[in-house]
Amino acid sequence: MKAPRLLQLAGEDPAATRAAIFAGFSAAPAVVSPKYFYDALGSRLFSAITELPEYYPTRTEARIFSCFIGEMAAELVPVTTLVDLGAGNCEKAASLFAALQVQRYVAVDISASYLRDSLESLQRKHPAMDMLGIGLDFSRTLTLPAEVGEGPRTMFYPGSSIGNFTPAEALAFLQQVHLASAGGALLIGVDLVKPTDILERAYDDPLGVTAAFNRNLLRHLNALVGTDFAIDDWRHVAFFNARESRIEMHLEAVKATVVHWADGERAFVAGERLHTENSYKWRSEDFADLLQAAGFRRVASWTDENGWFAVFRAFS
Ligand code: AVI
Repeated sequence: MKAPRLLQLAGEDPAATRAAIFAGFSAAPAVVSPKYFYDALGSRLFSAITELPEYYPTRTEARIFSCFIGEMAAELVPVTTLVDLGAGNCEKAASLFAALQVQRYVAVDISASYLRDSLESLQRKHPAMDMLGIGLDFSRTLTLPAEVGEGPRTMFYPGSSIGNFTPAEALAFLQQVHLASAGGALLIGVDLVKPTDILERAYDDPLGVTAAFNRNLLRHLNALVGTDFAIDDWRHVAFFNARESRIEMHLEAVKATVVHWADGERAFVAGERLHTENSYKWRSEDFADLLQAAGFRRVASWTDENGWFAVFRAFS
C-alpha cells in the first residue's frame, strides 16, 4: 500500500498576521477575515451548520453531484490529478473518485497536519492511488509545488467557498486557478441568488449554531493574538445585502466596550459592528462570465430543481 505524502508550505509570518488583524480592528467599520472562524471548535461548528435544515448549500450541492456526476465526468475522465482546494476531511472529493477515475489525489488545506488522518484512512480504501497533502493558505497564493507532478490537473473547489471572496478577489483567485490548471479543468460549487427569507434563515438559524460559529471567532482571536473580547458582549447579526448580492455576517457590541491587546486597544460604542464575513450569491450567467474573464472556456453548469445552487465545469 502506498503512503500519503505531506508537505507544509510556509504560511504568513505571525507578525504580519497580527498587523493585518489589528489594522482590521482599527478600520471603520471594523473588519476581520473569515479565515479566523476555523480553529478546531469553529471547524466543528461549521460542520454542524452543514447539517442544519436551514443551511441548504451543502446538501443541495451533494444532490447535484449525485444526479449529474456522470455527465460532468464524461469529458474529464480519466482525471490524472485531482487538486482539492480546502479539502478538510476529503469526503466530498473521495465520493467522486470512482466516477472521475482519479489517478492522483492532491488535498490542499491551511495545515498539512489537519489532512493526515483523513488521507491515511482514504489511502487504506484506495491503496494504489498517489496521495499528497499540502498545507497552504491558497487564498493568498496558489503556486503549487513540483511534488504535485506532471499532467493536466482538475481543480475541485466545492462548497460555494468562492462566495467568501469579493467579485474582484474571486476573479483574481480564478485567474490563479486557471494558471495552476493549464490544460486541465475546474469543478466548482456556487451558491445562487434566491429569496431573501431562505438566505437569511440559512445564516441565522433558530438553534443558534451560526451565531455560535460567528461568536467563536472572538474566542479564537483571544487565543491567537491576545485580545480580551468578552463573548457575552457581542451578538450575531446576519442579513442579505441585495445591492451587493451578499449575506453579511457581523458581530454587534451589545454595550459600549473596549477591546485591548498587548500594544493597542479599540473602543466600540453600543450597536457598533465588527464585519466578519461576506457570502456572495451569484446569478448563474454572471458566474459563467466570471469564469470566462478568468480565462476558462467551454463553461457548463448543473443546478438543482429550485435553481438554488450550481456546479460549474470549465476547461483551462
Ligand atoms: C465556507 N462558506 C462557504 C460558508 C458560507 O456559506 O459562506 C461559511 C458560513 N458562514 C456561515 N455559515 C456558513
